[in-house]
Amino acid sequence: MASPTLISDTGAWKDLKGHVEEINKTHLRDLMADAERCKSMMVEFDGVLLDYSRQRATNETVDKLFKLAEEAKLKEKINRMYNGEHINSTENRSVLHVALRASRDAVIQSDGKNVVPEVWSVLDKIKDFSERVRSGSWVGATGKVLKDVVAVGIGGSFLGPLFVHTALQTDPEAIKSARGRQLRFLANVDPIDVARNITGLNPETTLVVVVSKTFTTAETMLNARTLREWISAALGPSAVAKHMVAVSTNLMLVEKFGIDPNNAFAFWDWVGGRYSVCSAVGVLPLSLQYGFSVVEQFLKGASSIDQHFYSAPHEKNIPVLLGLLSVWNVSFFGYPARVSMESNGKGVSIDGVPLPFEAGEIDFGEPGTNGQHSFYQLIHQGRVIPCDFIGVVKSQQPVFLKGEVVSNHDELMSNFFAQPDALAYGKTPEQLHKENVAPHLIPHKTFSGNRPSLSLLLPSLNAYNIGQLLAIYEHRIAVEGFVWGINSFDQWGVELGKSLATQVRKQLHVSRTKGEPVEGFNFSTATLLTRYLEATAD
Ligand code: F6P
Repeated sequence: MASPTLISDTGAWKDLKGHVEEINKTHLRDLMADAERCKSMMVEFDGVLLDYSRQRATNETVDKLFKLAEEAKLKEKINRMYNGEHINSTENRSVLHVALRASRDAVIQSDGKNVVPEVWSVLDKIKDFSERVRSGSWVGATGKVLKDVVAVGIGGSFLGPLFVHTALQTDPEAIKSARGRQLRFLANVDPIDVARNITGLNPETTLVVVVSKTFTTAETMLNARTLREWISAALGPSAVAKHMVAVSTNLMLVEKFGIDPNNAFAFWDWVGGRYSVCSAVGVLPLSLQYGFSVVEQFLKGASSIDQHFYSAPHEKNIPVLLGLLSVWNVSFFGYPARVSMESNGKGVSIDGVPLPFEAGEIDFGEPGTNGQHSFYQLIHQGRVIPCDFIGVVKSQQPVFLKGEVVSNHDELMSNFFAQPDALAYGKTPEQLHKENVAPHLIPHKTFSGNRPSLSLLLPSLNAYNIGQLLAIYEHRIAVEGFVWGINSFDQWGVELGKSLATQVRKQLHVSRTKGEPVEGFNFSTATLLTRYLEATAD
């Protein structure tokens, strides 16, 4: 068997390595002066405008990145994903989150079976259930309408739905449909989070949705048992049937937990946890809060990008461009972070060969104006951190105060337009001299510039655009992984911590119930554990 080839062994990779030297001789200030170059670095699809002219790249760089994509067989890999092949090879699974938002008449196969009808049967069930809860035809044990929802889940069973909820809760249309309702998320197992979450909620009017792909995740199951107890203590154990439903791929465990399988909403092993917001994981809680028709718009937005990602040529393909530029920044410039899913943080290729280059980046972010007053010092004069600036043309909640020159949204957007230039151009000592800045302050006020960013401008932030944005970022991760030759769809890296926590949990149990001493841990952990056990002994 031929030994696997790393992408870094290819001619295209080596060519880009040499090309870095060329780019290091340029400055964004000069690159930005070339209007033709800037024009060629703007791509628009379905209202979303990507401007990547502030990347440390020329047209030649982009061509070389397309060659790298060819060597990495990017298009073939995208096709294999859409064809339902088991590209998640370490778990022997298809990767088909695109099927979750496919139209009813689409055909997407996994293991020789069209999965779209199953997807739609769950969507139809969610629509029916959420409408019954919202209209009050499904009521709680004491006959009251269930107006509040607590979604219990962690990781991918939490963050995606939280993102969409955060974006929708200020959208005028979504506000109208959410009137009088509350959606809360309980993720962390810290009892403080449980207390914060249920404060002000009445079990009589609360529906708990337990969201867990495996239905075994320790934190989620403990939180689910805690809320089951909260409901049973207030309303009696039989109330659970009316106040708890579940989203999972493991319907046997759902039933074992005491939730009627008729009130369970399925998804499938071909949906990665971190890619699951478009399954019942997100669609159920969000439909309960905003109504199915709003959430359907979100799915349609994501589907529009799915079709674009599948069919647009690389030079016009927003996720492909984003992914290739990330590879450029991370693996060639060595920029470790980006202001914007962690499954790309891998140390070996999909064939298990150690990677001689960095893959994955540390993502963080903040509304730009807030960032300006906190960590932007770091990105302007400290470390080089490529940024994604995401702006919307029309605010969800426009405010124009009398006597003000610009609207509040204009103020926000002023930063959206200004910051990328500040990063790209910087400020030279010569400019500062001309401004009569005191000589001793010149080093402090000099900005090197040449710091890459890209800008995404969306028409507004409604459910449809939120779906587009989600899909763009999901597919960017896939492109990066396809080029790096890693598996973007498994997360073995989180398993070690989980299994060690299980060992600790067992120790706590045997020490408390049988008085057994702490054993099998290193000195540090054993000391801390013993102290904790002693201090919590009653
Ligand atoms: O720890 C990572 C992970 O396995 C994610 O992939 C997943 O989203 C999360 O834990 C929660 O898992 P589950 O949905 O099975 O409870």
